[in-house]
Amino acid sequence: MSSNIKPNVEEHFDDYASTGRWQALLREKVDSNNFPYIIRFDWYKDIMNTLLPDSVLDVGCGSGDFVTIVPNSISRYKGMDISEQMLVATKDIIDKLPQAEQEKYSLVQSSFETYEDSQDYDFILASGFLEYFVELKPIIEKLYQLTSDNGHLAIQVPNREFFRWKGIALAKENDKGFSHHRISGSECDQLMAEAGYTKVQGDYINHYYYPYKRIFPKLHIIFDKLLSPYTPVSFSRKRASMYCGVYKK
Ligand SMILES: C[S@@+](CC[C@H](N)C(=O)[O-])C[C@H]1O[C@@H](n2cnc3c(N)ncnc32)[C@H](O)[C@@H]1O
Repeated sequence: MSSNIKPNVEEHFDDYASTGRWQALLREKVDSNNFPYIIRFDWYKDIMNTLLPDSVLDVGCGSGDFVTIVPNSISRYKGMDISEQMLVATKDIIDKLPQAEQEKYSLVQSSFETYEDSQDYDFILASGFLEYFVELKPIIEKLYQLTSDNGHLAIQVPNREFFRWKGIALAKENDKGFSHHRISGSECDQLMAEAGYTKVQGDYINHYYYPYKRIFPKLHIIFDKLLSPYTPVSFSRKRASMYCGVYKK
């Protein structure tokens, strides 16, 4: 395994998927725990419906829930993940697609650092992925190589500037046995520009506008979507827990 990630990441996600706890986050009804996952899923759904990509690479595809928002018009989708158990869950979703659709889908178990691919993709989906790497530059350069000319990369990261995290870049979660990074929107935009991408869109999501959102998570999802576009960036940078960006090659 590469030195860029902690070995426990694979173990952690194998355990998360084999117990079904990860899958439950998006597949059970909205509650006080899963609403941030639903908000980011909805963001990707909008982006995917707007860009209507022909080929998709889902890096760190997890349990494959994003397969359900991939347009039928694609010619190919590849999901890659370091965790075998996550891929087992993704395969379960693909197996439920009509036979003709299934043929467009493939899965690879690999660490992204050592991942090799002879093809490029016009949409790379990197949801909850970049925060697992210590050195982001080589990872983003690799994502750039895998993006077709005029293709897009869509990322989602934990926003380092979020007030609750007090600008701390590294979340040391001892129970997990590895560190989880937080990245600011401006840092993401700069790294992408350095790799050669042009920014298309940058959105802050899951705002803490008011207390009690855990009590009314469904309402919170609706308010976040409605109010985000009208929220000043200076407020979002501090009060939103996630940053999402779309970049074009
Ligand atoms: C937080 S989950 C996100 C899953 C999915 N993209 C989503 O947003 O629901 C992170 C995923 O990235 C995978 N991952 C972490 N580090 C990786 C690496 N170095 N190479 C490949 N996959 C990795 C994990 O196994 C896990 O499935």
